[in-house]
Amino acid sequence: MRSLIDITDLTVEETEELLNTASDIIENPEKYSEACKGKKLATLFFEPSARSRLSFEAAMIELGGSVIGVSSAENCSASKGESVADTAKVLSCYADIIAMRHPKEGAPLVAALNASIPVINAGDGGHKHPTQTLADLLTIKREKGRLNNLTVGFCGDLKYGRTVHSLIAALSRYTGIKLVLISPTELKIPTYVKKDFIERCNMEYVETTDLEGSLGSLDVLYMTRIQQERFSDRAEYERLKDVYILTEEKMKKAKSDMIVMHPLPRVNEISVGVDNDSRACYFKQVYNGKIMRMALILKLLKEAEDKAPYKAEGNKYEGYRCVNPRCITSVEQELEHRFAPSKNGGEVLRCIYCDKKAVKKD
Ligand code: CP
Repeated sequence: MRSLIDITDLTVEETEELLNTASDIIENPEKYSEACKGKKLATLFFEPSARSRLSFEAAMIELGGSVIGVSSAENCSASKGESVADTAKVLSCYADIIAMRHPKEGAPLVAALNASIPVINAGDGGHKHPTQTLADLLTIKREKGRLNNLTVGFCGDLKYGRTVHSLIAALSRYTGIKLVLISPTELKIPTYVKKDFIERCNMEYVETTDLEGSLGSLDVLYMTRIQQERFSDRAEYERLKDVYILTEEKMKKAKSDMIVMHPLPRVNEISVGVDNDSRACYFKQVYNGKIMRMALILKLLKEAEDKAPYKAEGNKYEGYRCVNPRCITSVEQELEHRFAPSKNGGEVLRCIYCDKKAVKKD
């Protein structure tokens, strides 16, 4: 059973195929208006969302299908203590495909391992957001005409910015990508993203705290929000929240064809005045998100005819635990802790759900 949990679940060729389908949907929407007739999408959103949930729903409706779903954990039996695995098995009886957002890292993987229908990760905590990446790739392709030979700046909360992690993973498979990672030191990119994707793929990169000084070199600037909901220390959030604000004045330092992207929602990090700049592409990204979700739903439903269960690498390693409080294993006590060697070829054992290093218990 195909699911989309991590952007690298799709090969580069499959990603290209989705981009081509998306272009065809834009050109010929009527061709697809009954493509999913009789099919149901379940949206299971345990964290707030405007774009992802509504674009999934709009995507399914525009494909002629229908939608059921919940928009918070409180409205679902999760609030009574039901496990993610059980919820996934239940929804498999009602729907043909699930789009799931959850605050805990790895929850959609648990759902995919237990559902008998495809599961799409619509964001798991500060970990991954592969369908935002599909929207981002389509935006870059349409605006820049290519997905290689680009200098891409990521700015803001690179630690918890799940869209950043997934987009870097996707870009690591293209050639000639240079990364400029702009963040406060407290919000630098996680080790697993650096080791498994940036360093493993020999991507050229710099880490800096300086947005203005970096602007002139960029083809793409990917701004992100400092994510209040991920901070345990409110004072730390208040100190960092306005550290980067892209203004019309700062845009004068950027190339005339640099594009500005943002997964949204925006708080303060892009002044509203920048919206009028022709280089601002974040609302085009929103539209592209719906189109790519249409292409993805079509692909996964087509491949759902293969009933083989979804599989993930990893084993139980005696004496090792995941101790990440943001991991789904921290709240689902029955879930077996499973690990796999790091993708960079090293010896490091990583939790298959959250990618954090396994800890040997005394
Ligand atoms: N970009 C994005 O995931 O937005 P939502 O949180 O509104 O879904």
